[in-house]
Amino acid sequence: MLVKRPHDYLPSELTPEPLYRRRRELLRAAAAGAILGAAGAAHAASGGLPKLPSTARSRFSSPEKPTEYKHVTRYNNFYEFGTDKTDPYQYAGRLKTRPWTVVVDGECAKPRTFGIEELLKLPLEERVYRLRCVEAWSMVVPWVGFELNALLKQVEPNGNAKFVEFTTALQPDTMPGVRLPVLDWPYVEGLRIDEAMHPLTILAVGLYGEALPNQNGAPVRLVVPWKYGFKSGKSIVRMRLVEKQPLTAWEKAAPHEYGFYSNVNPDVDHPRWSQKRERRIPEFFARRETVIFNGYGGQVAQLYAGMDLKKFF
Ligand code: MTE
Repeated sequence: MLVKRPHDYLPSELTPEPLYRRRRELLRAAAAGAILGAAGAAHAASGGLPKLPSTARSRFSSPEKPTEYKHVTRYNNFYEFGTDKTDPYQYAGRLKTRPWTVVVDGECAKPRTFGIEELLKLPLEERVYRLRCVEAWSMVVPWVGFELNALLKQVEPNGNAKFVEFTTALQPDTMPGVRLPVLDWPYVEGLRIDEAMHPLTILAVGLYGEALPNQNGAPVRLVVPWKYGFKSGKSIVRMRLVEKQPLTAWEKAAPHEYGFYSNVNPDVDHPRWSQKRERRIPEFFARRETVIFNGYGGQVAQLYAGMDLKKFF
């Protein structure tokens, strides 16, 4: 392609004067907008979903550039809508996200059911986190949400609350994927109580400053940034505080491939592929080194002190 260098001529030589002036005004306004945008949240794109109240960016955020909205929302795993990466974008529009409640019960003094409207009123903040999938691809997502511990503290977990079991929505009429026994539906995930209470663990209700798209787990999903993406259950309906380690949907399906802990670990390969490197969506050929705990080791490594992470994978 033939490209003209900008210093070959003055723009005013090419554009009629009034248009040239107007264009300069527009450029100035656009530059001001860009500066304001950079100072605030990473609101570069819009899926046309309701805007969330403007949020401060958390100090826990990654400084990396977020993956473009169109990739974050069109390359997904949400097996209830099919196993292809584009199935959730295509089919999750049918998911019924209102009315929506989240039951928090089990080993606690004050079990409660939270309506989604109540959750949306909690102070929200933006967390730009890397998401590393077990399939060796990754993204950087500007989530909007709140720390899970803010919710769990409200129900006052008792001394028997050693784990949290997360159950996600099962809507056979809107979810074509659950007709197939790919997983034992509903999708269940679990965390140890200290992992669940850790300030990096959030419940996300939005991304890119807008409500969460259905394919990303509307209206509320878990995000645990140092673990493989599959620990981050979507469209959560129940969180149960329990004494025994929950049996998760992936462990039930393939226990030798998906352990309970599922910490991002380049030294523990998946039985069918290496976890040493990853592909950053939408890059195709380039590979990056995978970092232990997805780069969040400084904050979370002490949770696993003394554990053999090859055994507790
Ligand atoms: N939650 C439910 N309910 N169903 C799923 O199939 N897939 C998991 C996780 N949460 C999944 C789920 C997997 S494998 C990944 S990698 C992440 O969601 C993907 O999140 P994203 O599509 O927002 O990138």
